[in-house]
Amino acid sequence: MKKLNIAVDGPSGAGKSSLARALAHEMGLIYVDTGALYRTIGLFMTENNIDTHDAAAVAARLGDIQLELTYQNGTQTVLLNGTDVGEKIRTPQISMAASAVSAIPAVREFLLGIQKDMVKKGGVVMDGRDIGTVIMPDADAKLFLVASPAARAKRRYLELCAKGIECSFEQILEETNQRDQADRERNIAPAIPAEDALFIDNSDLGPAETVAEAMNLIAQKCAEKRS
Ligand code: DC
Repeated sequence: MKKLNIAVDGPSGAGKSSLARALAHEMGLIYVDTGALYRTIGLFMTENNIDTHDAAAVAARLGDIQLELTYQNGTQTVLLNGTDVGEKIRTPQISMAASAVSAIPAVREFLLGIQKDMVKKGGVVMDGRDIGTVIMPDADAKLFLVASPAARAKRRYLELCAKGIECSFEQILEETNQRDQADRERNIAPAIPAEDALFIDNSDLGPAETVAEAMNLIAQKCAEKRS
């Protein structure tokens, strides 16, 4: 039987990664976190003192980056020039750097191959911003997950606290709004839903309810495609 490819898009903090990870587990697919790739580019540029808003300077250093994705027990590891980036890509500073570099066409082009290679292998639940529109236009189902900015910022805040990363809720809310706006309004691959996206608003849904709703929508979509 052909393995499904599922796209999960939406703004930051909507719970895409939790949903995508759970779906992958339920359906025996590989969870691919594409945001981690942009974060890794942001990390490299930050560590090398490159202004992440300077498109030419960022593009000039891409040749020095070798990226590899590995998977073990459902966990993705990003290797940057052979070294696991671990949690270094999860700080608020690197979130902002990732958002900045993700608006640079050369960066998106640079990351296209590695993402398309994963799609070719098949059997993935991939989360990001342009998965349904650019990376997997032929996905079997395209979910677009939304939640209110306050609900999303609260989740991100609690996540960072749990990891011991120091931050304030106000700072995270402000950065969530800024990042949303930048991701939505950029000229290249803006974070907008595909025409055939299936929407889930999970502001008032728990993780299990979100997964159940997603499974329903995927089942309906697959039945529709078969008929
Ligand atoms: O999903 P995330 O928060 O880890 O993503 C980090 C940044 O990368 C986010 O600001 C938007 C960008 N991104 C993107 O432009 N396209 C993707 N497919 C995934 C992430």
